[in-house]
Amino acid sequence: MGPPALTFNTLKTAAPPLAEAGLGISGLAAERDGVPVLFDVSLEVGPGQAVALLGPNGAGKTTTLLAVMGLVRVTAGRLTWDGGALTHQPPHRIAAAGIGWVPEERRVFAGLTVAENIEVGRRPGRPPAAGGDWHDARLAELFPPLARRWRQRAGLLSGGEQQMLAIARTLAGNPRLLLLDEPSEGLAPLIVDQMAAALATIKADGVALLLSEQHRGFAETLADRLVGLARGRVVEGTGDGFSR
Ligand SMILES: Nc1ncnc2c1ncn2[C@@H]1O[C@H](COP(=O)(O)OP(=O)(O)OP(=O)(O)O)[C@@H](O)[C@H]1O
Ligand SMILES: [Mg+2]
Repeated sequence: MGPPALTFNTLKTAAPPLAEAGLGISGLAAERDGVPVLFDVSLEVGPGQAVALLGPNGAGKTTTLLAVMGLVRVTAGRLTWDGGALTHQPPHRIAAAGIGWVPEERRVFAGLTVAENIEVGRRPGRPPAAGGDWHDARLAELFPPLARRWRQRAGLLSGGEQQMLAIARTLAGNPRLLLLDEPSEGLAPLIVDQMAAALATIKADGVALLLSEQHRGFAETLADRLVGLARGRVVEGTGDGFSR
């Protein structure tokens, strides 16, 4: 018995759905602590696609991910998931609908082992993306450094390994959309390459990826589309001005 399935039919608005499959964001405006920070953000992420949000500090990348997760107040626009309305749903229902979030701070449980952290993320019965369940063996294959430290406490892991663990724990819940907040931040170059390879594998599995990035090279390696943000709005073109 898994978590209750989220039924969208009763929530559909009169307006036509955005993307029939995957995530749709249309004209999104949102506030943080009463301060408007997003003004008009639109994008779509289909199954097996990756979209990278690029932009300088304070552009609204994190807030966009938080809005999808239902963690900031949305004041205008629409969020849809597989064609149904997601706007104003509580975070636990958004998670139960198959959306997983890996926050910037990773938040692994330092006193638990790698295996135990992953166990915490399991959501039995949740239907996975096309590639099937992310059971332990698959996660260990995806992140070899974790496989070597499976029975060690997470607090002993390097920053890169903790980032891998945060992703593995979220994947263990079989998300069909993964929100990643600056997954390459603070990682050594070799680890960045391992991370890019792992995320490419996840994407090939049919999982949709929406990631915030400040490193354009990493984003370009992985993403099907780059969306530039500046001061809470999508900026036209992805050529200059907001990348490093
Ligand atoms: N709790 C808050 N209350 C008010 N404003 C906030 C709050 N948190 C963030 N902001 C503002 O919201 C805007 C967008 O911030 P956000 O964290 O989404 O940007 P970001 O693109 O993720 O930046 P970074 O690259 O630094 O992570 C910024 O102007 C920021 O100052
Ligand atoms: Mg951020």
